[in-house]
Amino acid sequence: MLMTLDNVLTREELAEAREMIAHSQWASGLATAGTQAAAVKDNQQLPEDAPFLPALRRMVLAALNRQPLFFSAALPLKILAPFFNRYGETGNRYGQHTDGAMRLTPDGAGYVRADVSATLFLSEPEEYDGGILAVQDTFATHNIKLKAGSIVVYPSSSIHEVTPVTRGARIGCFMFMQSMVRDAEKRRVLFDLDLAIQQLRQQVGEAAPVVSLTGTYHNLLRRWADT
Ligand code: NI
Repeated sequence: MLMTLDNVLTREELAEAREMIAHSQWASGLATAGTQAAAVKDNQQLPEDAPFLPALRRMVLAALNRQPLFFSAALPLKILAPFFNRYGETGNRYGQHTDGAMRLTPDGAGYVRADVSATLFLSEPEEYDGGILAVQDTFATHNIKLKAGSIVVYPSSSIHEVTPVTRGARIGCFMFMQSMVRDAEKRRVLFDLDLAIQQLRQQVGEAAPVVSLTGTYHNLLRRWADT
């Protein structure tokens, strides 16, 4: 399941993030790629010692905290500190890959299992050509290119790629998270159920069936979630 959310960052936050990034030095993107991914990855990334990285990470995580739909879809248990990358017009790309399952935390203290991946777009679509995030789903490939400040959330287990950038630069933020519910299909069921309950509650209030369905949601979560 793929989900997109617009205006995750406010205009002011977006301008501030872009300003901080404009004053940062890029390093090779290979730091976060495993062996298979490294063979097809060609981009740049903010290094762990980049001065603005802590502030950028705080901003993105605080912005996600304001998005209940994001939580409902991803059911995050642990979110690995977000990374920031750049695909430039020299044909930077990231060929087809699946995100590595286990991600070492930046402080090296432990691992986060990547169940859910997300990309927050920081460049406007008209600022670059190419740079499409193509995510293979069961029956189709989704071609994603969002407005700056919007996010796409997708299963880390999917095969996906970023097509070559042929003009301008595509700057984004990407992150991996371990979900309380490991299985993507179960997360899908829970998300659909949650959305339906929210809509029903809007229409009929706290009627008995809404209370019952809310209980069913939590009982499924109790069966499927690990903490
Ligand atoms: Ni990836």
